[in-house]
Amino acid sequence: MTEKPDDICPRAEVLPPQPTQPLVPPLFTAAVYRCESIAQADAVLGGELSGYAYVRDGHPNADLLAEKCSQLHGAEKAAICSSGMGALAVAVLSQLAPGDHVVVSNQLYGRSLTLLTSECARWDITNSIVDVCNLQAVRAALGGNSRLVVVETIANPLLRVPDLSALGKLARETGARLLVDNTFASPALCRPIEYGADLVLESLTKIMSGHSDVCLGLLCGREECWSRVPSVLSTWGLTSSPFDCWMAGRGLGTMALRVERAAANALEAARYLAQQPTVEAVYYPGLPTHPDHEIATRQFAGRYGSIVSFTLAGGRAAADRFIHAARAIPFSPSLGDLSTTLSHPESTSHRGLSAADRAALRITGGTIRLSLGIESAATVLARLAEGLTSV
Ligand SMILES: Cc1ncc(COP(=O)(O)O)c(C=O)c1O
Repeated sequence: MTEKPDDICPRAEVLPPQPTQPLVPPLFTAAVYRCESIAQADAVLGGELSGYAYVRDGHPNADLLAEKCSQLHGAEKAAICSSGMGALAVAVLSQLAPGDHVVVSNQLYGRSLTLLTSECARWDITNSIVDVCNLQAVRAALGGNSRLVVVETIANPLLRVPDLSALGKLARETGARLLVDNTFASPALCRPIEYGADLVLESLTKIMSGHSDVCLGLLCGREECWSRVPSVLSTWGLTSSPFDCWMAGRGLGTMALRVERAAANALEAARYLAQQPTVEAVYYPGLPTHPDHEIATRQFAGRYGSIVSFTLAGGRAAADRFIHAARAIPFSPSLGDLSTTLSHPESTSHRGLSAADRAALRITGGTIRLSLGIESAATVLARLAEGLTSV
């Protein structure tokens, strides 16, 4: 019987056989896979046979990206999540239980702080918020039920750099694990597992992908922390999109080059800003005047990252004038793009803090955070000068 056009599925069911491998990994948009038999479906879904059945449980583009990220970090395990916050949620849900306690850096990204304090408190997980550059304070905060110490390699916006080896040792002494958010550094600058971190988190939305066109997160770390991760990822629905993974894999290919160039630009920008009379303070761990310069030199691979913050003497009004005058530097409250962008912590990332808490972190209305891109250094300095003329 000849099939009617309506009966012919317009989709190809099998890929054409061919002896060569594509140079570029394909994008697997399939949300679901065909199983050969009940036994095969059972084995794949039960985890005895590696393969794919349903996109929320795993897909090739996530696995390809996770493999690259685990190589970059020297991690035993890696998972790609829906966002950086998704990766933090997976860490919390896989490592903590009601009654546990977490020690949290007082300089974490705002949403991370909210997740680890007000959200976790709803599940009876208590917290101590401490300055993690003060090891005495961390030691004092750790108790018998502490399970996680959560810090950032380079904290936003004053770019403080905690001593990861010392923190890892302190956490281990009390049976807690060290979780490091490495978003501002990337593995091109720092591989926290080498300094004793048990788990590493990154917002791949930022410099790892590098083009401001994906939203993804990475969680990677030691095998002994991993038993609950795959099930949490799938059950809570925190899995990544294949297209974003494919795009991130593309960005990752140039990550080391972009970090190198952006960090060189950041050092130039920090040195330039430090000489300007209208600039009250410059924060960059690459400057010998930064309180953590020595630790950063020891912990990072010869570069100090792509983020520079500075405070204008004229406060919020001066920051507003700077932002209007420096039109070629977009005011985009994110980081890690190809272009240099700027953000205003008081009105964006730190808007949820009280004025007193912001003051304690030395964030004022005049504080601006720059995320350096890969333009030439001369262009970056000219654009900064353009902004400063108006201040
Ligand atoms: C340091 C840091 N960690 C985590 C996140 C959250 O990442 P995402 O926006 O991909 O959820 C951000 C976002 O800005 C961040 O700056």
